[in-house]
Amino acid sequence: MSTPNQPAPSAESAGSAAANLSQVTIATPTIHDGDEQQERNGKKVKLEGIGPTGRPIREHPDPAPLDKHGPAKIMAMCNQKGGVGKTTSTINLGAALAEYGRKVLLVDFDPQGALAVGLGIQPHELDQTVYNAIMERSVSATDVLMKTRVEGVDLLPSNIDLSAAEVQLVAEVGREHTLLRVLRPVMNDYDYVLVDCQPSLGLLTVNALTAADGVIIPLECEFFSLRGVALLIDTIEKVQERLNPKLDIVGILATMYDPRTLHSKEVMARVVEAFGETVFDTVINRTVRFPETTVAGEPITTWAPKSAGAAAYRQLAREVIAR
Ligand SMILES: Nc1ncnc2c1ncn2[C@@H]1O[C@H](COP(=O)(O)OP(=O)(O)OP(=O)(O)O)[C@@H](O)[C@H]1O
Ligand SMILES: [Mg+2]
Repeated sequence: MSTPNQPAPSAESAGSAAANLSQVTIATPTIHDGDEQQERNGKKVKLEGIGPTGRPIREHPDPAPLDKHGPAKIMAMCNQKGGVGKTTSTINLGAALAEYGRKVLLVDFDPQGALAVGLGIQPHELDQTVYNAIMERSVSATDVLMKTRVEGVDLLPSNIDLSAAEVQLVAEVGREHTLLRVLRPVMNDYDYVLVDCQPSLGLLTVNALTAADGVIIPLECEFFSLRGVALLIDTIEKVQERLNPKLDIVGILATMYDPRTLHSKEVMARVVEAFGETVFDTVINRTVRFPETTVAGEPITTWAPKSAGAAAYRQLAREVIAR
């Protein structure tokens, strides 16, 4: 049986798990959810207390309130595969951390600007974005960052301008440390800085990993989603060795899980088999409520505060604080 609050395995151990991915078989799914029935003494019985990860359901108690803020932990939300829930998780984890009294800065490090849109802000209308802060020495994070409608959550927005940075940064001195330099002066104002990465392993993502204390990897519960993970972990290990020894994998977050399909359960079983305790207990179900929140321009925690999706991101926030 697993121990609660066990520290997350290092990038190294997760890396060897990734190397073994090809040897993992999916023929014997051992995953059950709470509603599943099992034959016992010829009778169908309900399997109580087993979560979608196949592990016993653990309690994640509410975190203690804080009496002062900072220095922030920087977390990169990272996966080079597109559409796996990075932006959705950045917004909703950020909002849930703020509900627990944590001060949060969300950094949009994707030229698509989806993070701002999800918070009801039109990024193309902004004069200054994170692009200016990283490229111009006269512009600081405080010049660019803005409050959001969500209490306790600020945003360092981006827009299409940032797409030029990848090329322009190549010629810069200390090019991998640019984001860290921008964030350093505001670190004491926040408890968490969440960096929403673009779907690539290019220089912008390397900047996010160099600045970060930890990485959260959102992973869609879909067969092909496992394919790029070994490459992602390889990149994380390289950044850890060469640029940022403190970098750690905080957790792998299974997203878009559909408890009704065997496929979701098989993928979940593979992920847990490969990455063990690195996988968060929290699993985000697939629901149309998340695309709806993007249209609404607010997190699920305020748009549908009593929904299962809001509860899931609150549980994730408790897990992240505990790790
Ligand atoms: N749990 C979920 N259930 C259903 N739809 C979801 C869920 N999470 C995210 N989505 C939707 O899937 C799409 C992709 O999600 P999101 O933008 O968060 O992914 P991403 O990894 O940031 O994508 P990109 O790589 O393009 O930046 C969005 O339309 C979003 O609303
Ligand atoms: Mg995104």
